[in-house]
Parts: sequence; C-alpha cells; structure tokens
Amino acid sequence: MIWKRWGRSSAANASDSGNVDVEATPAPAPAPVEAAVATPAPPVPDAAALLERRPAFLDRLWLEDMDRPPGDSLPRFSSNASDEVEVATREQDVVRRRIALREALGASQPVIGRDHFAGRHDALRQLISAVEQQRLHVVVYGERGIGKTSLSHVFAETAREARYFVLYGSCGTEAKFDTMFRSFAARIPRIYHKSVLPNSAEAERGDNLDVLLPEDFGPRELAEVFSDVVGTRIIIILDEYDRVLDVSFRRDVAELIKNLSDRAARVQLVLTGVAQNLDELIGYAPSIRRNIVGLPMRPMNANEVRELLAIGERAADIVYSNDAARLVTTIAGGSPYLVRLISHQAGLVALDAGFDTVNEDHAKTAVERVLTDWNASLPRRVQANLSREEARAQWPLLIAAARAGSSADGFFTVDDVINEMGGTRVSSLIERDLRHFAGPNDLLDLVDGSNEVRFRFRFPGVSALLLMSAAMAKLTL
Ligand SMILES: Nc1ncnc2c1ncn2[C@@H]1O[C@H](COP(=O)(O)OP(=O)(O)OP(=O)(O)O)[C@@H](O)[C@H]1O
Ligand SMILES: [Mg+2]
Repeated sequence: MIWKRWGRSSAANASDSGNVDVEATPAPAPAPVEAAVATPAPPVPDAAALLERRPAFLDRLWLEDMDRPPGDSLPRFSSNASDEVEVATREQDVVRRRIALREALGASQPVIGRDHFAGRHDALRQLISAVEQQRLHVVVYGERGIGKTSLSHVFAETAREARYFVLYGSCGTEAKFDTMFRSFAARIPRIYHKSVLPNSAEAERGDNLDVLLPEDFGPRELAEVFSDVVGTRIIIILDEYDRVLDVSFRRDVAELIKNLSDRAARVQLVLTGVAQNLDELIGYAPSIRRNIVGLPMRPMNANEVRELLAIGERAADIVYSNDAARLVTTIAGGSPYLVRLISHQAGLVALDAGFDTVNEDHAKTAVERVLTDWNASLPRRVQANLSREEARAQWPLLIAAARAGSSADGFFTVDDVINEMGGTRVSSLIERDLRHFAGPNDLLDLVDGSNEVRFRFRFPGVSALLLMSAAMAKLTL
C-alpha cells in the first residue's frame, strides 16, 4: 500500500508545484485502440467493472478551477495553543470534542501506547511468542502504513513490563552499523555484563557497554560483548529497516544475528520494514533463516476497524453508525492509517453539522475531502495530466497500474498490469498504452531494462489517489 509513502513525500511534491504549469502537459496521445480498455463499463457491470469506473465527483475535482473561491470570512483557530477550552456552550463542547478526536484518531503519528492501539492481538501474541518461547529474532514486514511501528512500540511497552531491557532505533537511509550499534551499547548499563560485580568500581562508575567495544568493531566483536550479558534480556528494535541503503549494514546485521544465535546470547533483534516478503527486507541470507521468525502484518479486519473507531467514539462522545463503519472499512482496505484519516475527518464533519452520530454521508464527505486534499498536494501539472481526456478514457488501465504498483518500490511490469486487468489483454497494446503516460512530464516513469520494461508512478500520491477513487466509485455506484 502506498498511501503513507505519499503522505511523507507530499512536501517534496508540493515544492515541485511552483515551477510547472499546465503548459507542461504533453500533447494528447492518440486515443487507445484497444476498445475493451478504452470504453466505459458495460450497462450491467460486474464487481470488477464497478471498481474501474471513475466516480463522478472526480470530474468536479479535476475540471473545476483549481483555485478555491474565497470564503465569506477568514478562518480562525478554534482553540488556543495549549488545547484548553472552557466547556460552557455547545460550540465550545464541539471544539473540545474535535481536539479529543484528533488525539484519538489523528493519522500523522504511530501509536505509542496501548490506549490508542486497536486490534493486532494475533500479531502481538506471535511477536511475544517468538521472543519469549522460541528465543528467536523477528522480522516484522508489511505494506507502508500497515502499523509496524505502532506494533513495535506496544510490543516494547509490553516487554518492558516483563522487565526486558528494550532499545528502539529508527534506521535512516545513512544508517551505519558501528554508529548505530555503539549508540545502542551506550544505553545498556555495564552492570549487565558478566565481568562486572555489583559493588565494583566499574558498576559504581555507571559505565555502559560501549566502553567494552574496540574503536573499530563489526558484528563479531559486538556479539562477543553481547553474549556476556547477564541479569536481563535485551531486545533491540530496528525500525524502518527498509530505508537503509548501505548493503554492508544488512550484511552485518545478518552476521550479528548469526553470531548472537550461535552463542545463545540474551540479546534479540526485532527488525521492521516495508516489504512484501522476508527476502525483500533482509536480502538473501540463508545462513540466518533458522534464527529468525518472519511476521507479515496483514490488513486490519472489520472487527479491528470497529475497535479503532471505538477509540474515537470514547474520546469524543460520538458514535459511528454501522453504515459509516462499513464505508470506512471498505475504502481503507485494511490500512489503519486510512481508517484513522477518514474516520477522523468523518467525525469532524458530523460534529460540525451538529450530529453526535457519524452517518454514511459524513463518511462519504470525509473521503471526498481526503481525495481533494491529496489531489491539491500534487503538482499542478500532475493534476492536469489526470484530468486530460486520455487519462479519463484510460481510467481502468490506470487503476490496474496503480494496483500493480503497490509493491515497496512501486515498480510494475506490463504483465503485472495485465494480471490486474484479468489477464486477457494483449501485451503489446497495454505496453503501448502505458508508454503514452511515460512522457517527460507525464504520470509514469519508465525503465527500459534488457529483459523487460518497468513502469512506476512518478508521484506515489497518484496511485494512492487512483486506488481510493476506485474504491469510492465502487461504493457510490
Ligand atoms: N493497531 C493500531 N491501532 C490504531 N492505530 C494504528 C494501529 N496501527 C497503526 N495505526 C495508525 O496507522 C498509521 C500508520 O501506523 P504506523 O506508522 O505504525 O505504520 P507503519 O507500518 O510503521 O508505517 P511505515 O510503513 O510508514 O513505517 C498511524 O497513524 C498509526 O497511528
Ligand atoms: Mg513505521
């Protein structure tokens, strides 16, 4: 899933919007020849065809003047910066509940404690069991925004309650093995090393394990220090592992896992990252397969979505109707990020309209708002590309491409697109149609490899927008 990646990159995208304009739009390409792709859905559409229709409101989104007309009065903040409001009037009560809803369902942060954590009992149970019963290292992987970081925070809280010593680190693109692990070692008191007696001078000094590491060290030297840990068990969480660019970092981490396992050390690693499978995240590392458990994070089910909505209900004294909950569940497609984004907006729409119950219309309005915001954050030339006639005619192709491109790196092949379209298309025609969208200022990037051609949406936000619009179309027809 690519919703969240877009959220992160939208600032960069927005900065691109200043120097491009509608003139940059490429000339319309010839109309597609493959009639089955180009024509609208048949009169009695099946479920797949419904999904491929363009929702009417997109026409408003893309064809109206992109600049909003000025409102009657300038907007104001509704509470002060310390979030304090006096609950005296209905209006102030609404302000208080809006803040409570944002605290409970705001989508910009991972969950850091149990209070706001919904569902995921099975994932947490498996994670605990792998660490506690099997004494293995764990790799948590899944789509962007599926809840890996939130799970690892709640797992850390749970492990700390069981007196584990838990360290959390988020990997950046520049992560270096020695820097990162030295800083972990610098947070582990030396009294946990077997060479240190409780009342000794070393223990009194309050040193940490980093003093035992040589200036230059690799996984072997680190494992030697870690294998002498006594009196506790240490869990090191390496979040965002997919972001690490340095291949030697991954090789060293694999080597560390191997060494720690061979020595039965009381230190375990939990790696988390965006990937569709284990190999994609840790690379091909057969030597450690026996020492790790792969934990894929699946989409949230309807009950878990209900649990998440209940957190907002309790916080803001509102109720999500069953119809609203169903709509949110369908559109979010199991992404907790989207559940929060849409249900937060839907709650606000209801509160502003004076309702205590969020109904289906509020939820639809919320989806439209989210799509409108996403669209607005795209560069103007991308918005123009999406609204041009060819993109409208090729809507099913673009939806299929968006689905095909939901891997971690976003790339897809012609065959992937054909699969998404039901597998009955002519490869050369699909490739030609995709190439029409791969001009210098167009929607797709193209990589012409020796064996195959690969495409990717140039702005990840576009595929998110297409996928959500498709889900919306399915519901509103
Ligand atoms: N179990 C949950 N209960 C409630 N909200 C959740 C849960 N899991 C995730 N979320 C929400 O979903 C959003 C994405 O979660 P999170 O950041 O944990 O995902 P992620 O998989 O780590 O994302 P990324 O791939 O970008 O690192 C956040 O807004 C978070 O608050
Ligand atoms: Mg994360």
